[in-house]
Amino acid sequence: MKELAPAFDLRISQDVDQLALRAAADFSVRAAKAIQEKGFFAVALSGGNTPKVLFDVLSKGHGMMQPVEWNKVKVFWSDERYVAKDHKDSNYKMALDCLLSKVNILPTNVYPMPTENSDPAISARQYEATLRSVLGTSQNDVPRLDLVYLGMGTDGHTASLFPYTELVDKIASEVIPTHQLVGSQYIEKVSMYRLTFLPNIINAAACVTFLVAGEEKAETLVNVLHGAYHPKTYPSQLIHPDNGELIWFVDEQAAGSLTKSPLHANACCPRN
Ligand code: 6PG
Repeated sequence: MKELAPAFDLRISQDVDQLALRAAADFSVRAAKAIQEKGFFAVALSGGNTPKVLFDVLSKGHGMMQPVEWNKVKVFWSDERYVAKDHKDSNYKMALDCLLSKVNILPTNVYPMPTENSDPAISARQYEATLRSVLGTSQNDVPRLDLVYLGMGTDGHTASLFPYTELVDKIASEVIPTHQLVGSQYIEKVSMYRLTFLPNIINAAACVTFLVAGEEKAETLVNVLHGAYHPKTYPSQLIHPDNGELIWFVDEQAAGSLTKSPLHANACCPRN
């Protein structure tokens, strides 16, 4: 039974546009620091609709941002729909259309999740090998990404970790090997296979950032952040970086009735 919620940084913005500006500024600072320290910045993008607003700001640049050396950015994904890369539902296609086609990123630094194999589980293993090869990690070690973006569904899912699925049950029951980084699962709710980062790699990141906007997320957000620890019901609760930052960029609609006290938001919050 989880005693304490992870310490997190709750950043509430007036609306999704201000959320995107602030998240883009944060991205640029993290990228500059990582590139200065080790020559590259490794980021995993999330899918869905909310990131589109962020990608648009990143693609155009903004006065709140530091310049981004896109040619030194390595891009991964934290989850993917198991469809072709030119499919309308592809997270890779969304990022390509909204961001990657508009900045001078090196195509060789873009690592989409593979969705060609008839067996998604094989693709999951392939992506694990790519992550370890690109980030220089040995077979049983967990790569440390600089930044992992996540969204949250109204049902409390994140990445493609959905409530009441066999995969999340296994994660919550701690039967997933610690070296496993990527999972695959047929998701009834969306009638498709998904590939997804597992908490093993997400929680190893230097920074994990949720992007959550909209009134429809408000009730779930309160339950995820301050409710009892029920990760099978709220898989977003599985996210608690071992040795990294956890930031929630939310708009006022999603923040709803969340306690806005900075003390409360930045402390280890006892779950009730
Ligand atoms: C996906 C996403 C998914 C998303 C949430 C929130 O592949 O759909 O990774 O986890 O982040 O469903 O999506 P919205 O930002 O569209 O609300």
